[in-house]
Amino acid sequence: MKLNNGIIIPPIGFGTWKLKNNDETVEIIKEAIGCGYRHIDTAFAYGNEETIGKGIKASNINRKELFITGKLWNDDRGYENIINACKRTIKNLNCEYLDLYLIHWPASKAVHDDWIEINNETWKAFEYLYEQGLVKAIGVCNFKVNQLEELIKVAKIKPMVNQIEFHIGAYNKDILDFCYKNDILVEAWSPLGSGKLFKVDELKDMALKYNVSVAQLCIKWCLQNNTLPLPKSKNIERIKNNLDVFDFEITKDDMDYLNNFRDVGNSGLDSETITLFN
Ligand code: A2P
Repeated sequence: MKLNNGIIIPPIGFGTWKLKNNDETVEIIKEAIGCGYRHIDTAFAYGNEETIGKGIKASNINRKELFITGKLWNDDRGYENIINACKRTIKNLNCEYLDLYLIHWPASKAVHDDWIEINNETWKAFEYLYEQGLVKAIGVCNFKVNQLEELIKVAKIKPMVNQIEFHIGAYNKDILDFCYKNDILVEAWSPLGSGKLFKVDELKDMALKYNVSVAQLCIKWCLQNNTLPLPKSKNIERIKNNLDVFDFEITKDDMDYLNNFRDVGNSGLDSETITLFN
C-alpha cells in the first residue's frame, strides 16, 4: 500500500495493544518479525514502547526494513510537549525515526469547548516533526468526518492515515468514504473485534466455506475494503495465520453481506462524546 506522500506501507501491521512490558513481549515481537511482519503499530499509552524496542533489536532486522508507527497520547498535547513526546517515543523504541506518527485521540467535544483549536495546534506540531524528518508520515486516529474536515481546513500537510475501529460489524462507511476521497489511508484497529467475532456462527460458516480461519476472513475483509488491518496476537501460530491471507478472495456478494453485518464486537468508544480520557 502507498501513503499520499508516496511512502510504501506494509499492508498488515502487527498490533501491540495489551502486550505487557515483559520478556514475553520481547520474544513475541522478535517472532513476529521473524515470521514476516514488517510493520509494527505501537503507542505511548500502551506502556510497552521500550519492550517493543528490545524485541525489534533482538530480531536483528535492519531498521530500514521496518515500518514503525507511534502515537501521541492525550496528556502530551501542547506544541513543545508534542515534540518532546515524539523524541521520547523514538528513544524508547530505539529506532532513530518513526515511519508514522499518529494523534491517538482527537480532543473530544464533550470535554473541550476549544477542541478544534487543540486539534489544529497538535497538527501544527506534527507538521513540524514531519518537516524535520523525525517522522516519515503523519496522521490521526479515531477522527470522525467532521473532525477531519476541520483539520483539513487548516492543514498544510494532509493526514496520510486515519486509524479507526474497523471490523466486520463496525463498518464505519462514512469515514471510509471520506478518507478514500481525500486519499487518507484507513487503518483498522481491532480488526478481529478484539476476539468477539470468533463466536459468531455466520462468520464461522463463511470461514469454513473459504477454508480459512475466522481471523483470516476478518483480515481479508479489511484488505478488500482498502483498509490496513492491525491484528494482534501473543501466539506464534495465530501470528503466522493472520499474515497468511493472500491466496483467497472474498466474493463481491459475501463482501456486501459482511459490510452490512449486524453490529457486533463494537468497543462503543465515540471520539466526539468520550469523557473517560481526553
Ligand atoms: P491471542 O493473543 O491469544 O492470539 P484484535 O486484533 O481485534 O484486537 O483481536 C485480538 C484478539 O484476538 C486477542 O484476544 C487474540 O488472542 C485473538 N486472536 C488474534 N489472532 C487470532 C487468530 N488467528 N485466531 C484466534 N484468535 C486470535
